[in-house]
Amino acid sequence: MSTRAEDAIEIRPLTTLEQFERCVVLQLEVWGYSDGDLIPRRVFLVAQRIGGQVLGAFDGETIIGFAMALPGYREGHAYLHSHMLAVLAEYRNAGLGRRLKLAQREDAIARGFDLMEWTFDPLEIKNAHLNIARLGAIVRRYKPDFYGPSSSPLQGGLPTDRLYAEWWLRSPRVTKALRGEAETMDVLERIAVPHSIYEWKQDPERRDLARQVQTANREALQAAFDRGLSVVGYERNAEGDGAFLTGRWKPEEQGAWS
Ligand SMILES: CC(C)(COP(=O)(O)OP(=O)(O)OC[C@H]1O[C@@H](n2cnc3c(N)ncnc32)[C@H](O)[C@@H]1OP(=O)(O)O)[C@@H](O)C(=O)NCCC(=O)NCCS
Repeated sequence: MSTRAEDAIEIRPLTTLEQFERCVVLQLEVWGYSDGDLIPRRVFLVAQRIGGQVLGAFDGETIIGFAMALPGYREGHAYLHSHMLAVLAEYRNAGLGRRLKLAQREDAIARGFDLMEWTFDPLEIKNAHLNIARLGAIVRRYKPDFYGPSSSPLQGGLPTDRLYAEWWLRSPRVTKALRGEAETMDVLERIAVPHSIYEWKQDPERRDLARQVQTANREALQAAFDRGLSVVGYERNAEGDGAFLTGRWKPEEQGAWS
């Protein structure tokens, strides 16, 4: 961790090729992708030029994290698809990931967007907690093997299953979550993710255990979504295990168009 206070880290838009080149370096450090999976600097430039977002977190002059989003279009509405969020390992768990998302939200609202989406790995307990519990995103879509095979060691050779996080930027649920208040909703199911999943993914001898959790949770989440349920909460226990909580999220009560 840097010796600078956390609030000394500034978040601002990235605009130059040199800055986009730095995002490519960070991508390599954070995900360890091979060339075929790496987003080149020109795509960052395009994202920034066509109404997406490229925001950087600066420790002094050094960019130590970034968020990148592309504009999307669905059901007659424009929205933002946030493709990448990365913070260098030594700066993590100090609220920077959350601050980058808040900066994305502020910019998106200022430009008239209602919705930001992104995908995340349902086995990543930390990301699920950040997305659902801290930011107030909901989930009601599951895509098995979204990207096909991934060269990132973080994936542990498993299929790239992804959940779609929907962040209804101005909804009562999100504004409450950002104030640290949870919505009171009936929880209909809990779908658990053991904390050992991180070790299992990285250990070839125990990878099958991770695969079994992935398959079981894929079925449970898809079945819940087929019944019209959404992921409306996420819990962690003292051991670090996670659990998706499903319930009835009502778009009409949240100002959502979809
Ligand atoms: C995801 C990522 C950007 C988050 O950045 P960050 O600066 O660490 O995020 P924050 O500090 O704002 O929030 C992290 C939260 O997860 C919690 N957390 C940390 N480790 C955890 C774990 N093993 N299990 C559950 N929660 C965990 C933290 O306590 C914090 O929650 P809190 O604010 O309620 O205490 C960063 O971890 C990263 O770059 N990861 C690798 C790339 C990635 O997965 N990107 C996202 C998908 S595209």
